[in-house]
Amino acid sequence: MYGFGTMIEQLKKNPKTIVFTEGTDPRILEAASRLLAGNFLKPILVGNEEDVLKAAEDAGYNIRGAQVIDSNHYDRFDEMVDKFCELRKSKGMTPEEARKILAQPNYFGTMLVQMGVADSLLGGATYSTADTVRPALQIIKTKPGHSIVSSCFILVRPSATGENEVLAMGDCAININPSEDELVEIAAETIECAKIFGVDPKVAFLSYSTLGSGKGPEVEKMRNAANKAKAQIPGVPIEGELQFDAAVSPRVARTKCPGSEVAGHANTFIFPDINSGNLGYKIAQRMGNFEAYGPILLGLNAPINDLSRGCNAIEVYSMAIITAALV
Ligand SMILES: CC(C)(COP(=O)(O)OP(=O)(O)OC[C@H]1O[C@@H](n2cnc3c(N)ncnc32)[C@H](O)[C@@H]1OP(=O)(O)O)[C@@H](O)C(=O)NCCC(=O)NCCS
Repeated sequence: MYGFGTMIEQLKKNPKTIVFTEGTDPRILEAASRLLAGNFLKPILVGNEEDVLKAAEDAGYNIRGAQVIDSNHYDRFDEMVDKFCELRKSKGMTPEEARKILAQPNYFGTMLVQMGVADSLLGGATYSTADTVRPALQIIKTKPGHSIVSSCFILVRPSATGENEVLAMGDCAININPSEDELVEIAAETIECAKIFGVDPKVAFLSYSTLGSGKGPEVEKMRNAANKAKAQIPGVPIEGELQFDAAVSPRVARTKCPGSEVAGHANTFIFPDINSGNLGYKIAQRMGNFEAYGPILLGLNAPINDLSRGCNAIEVYSMAIITAALV
């Protein structure tokens, strides 16, 4: 695995800044104090300075050295309003409306990244995924050459032999019902992310059917998407449509899908929709003893990531490192 050690070394050589939109949350403050102690990733906490410092003191975390930025007292706020109106002019954005929107930490923090004040952003300790991701979609937008922002989870299970089992799953968090072409884009992005974490991708397009055993439009969608992906992503083993057991069990694969390079050995999973994807990664996490890192946003023009509202401080710390290391 690429590993946190490597990411931290990379950040030590080239330190970055990261915005936390929920500057008074104790989990954010704990992670920020750990990052400050490590001296490789500088937190920028969004919030009223007095409130942030009091929250840190009450929770017992030392955040000396962190920058605290309050939208109500930000000296570049007028410039930010102008930039936001320009970015949203096709929506008829007025300065009055922009001021109200930018008073919200999720929009304010995202604009700090857009203006180059910060390198990256991590939010969502209290915001929903939609409320963290929407400002990024509207302000940061997709990378050139991409049509969608998607996401993947990296799942890591420590093994008794010392070698971690690492899997990638996409898209479990953003696109609700991706089309065939969007699934191909999700696969291409998930493959690249999997490689960063040391996975040699073997990609399964998942379904309730294995190579025609079941029928229906959802089966056809996954079969067609897998075929398009095979054509468009050369050099990576891809199979589909596959049921999950055929994807991971060599014994089942021998019966249902003999001769496939992927079946029985898949480590990168493309789900048909957000229902199956979100359930799939959470089952692996809660019942399969995998640690889940993500959602890691893919195809976005700057590194911005979302936390689960159930996250703890260690997860905030880990996701901050992943986010900034991907800059
Ligand atoms: C991601 C999500 C928030 C976007 O939907 P939305 O808020 O309704 O956004 P809209 O459809 O109004 O689009 C807002 C902007 O984002 C853009 N957008 C929406 N989805 C996008 C995507 N997947 N990739 C890139 N841009 C996207 C739209 O084009 C629009 O841009 P514009 O305002 O400049 O025209 C929505 O798809 C969603 O809720 N997904 C599920 C999130 C979730 O609950 N996950 C489970 C928990 S992990």
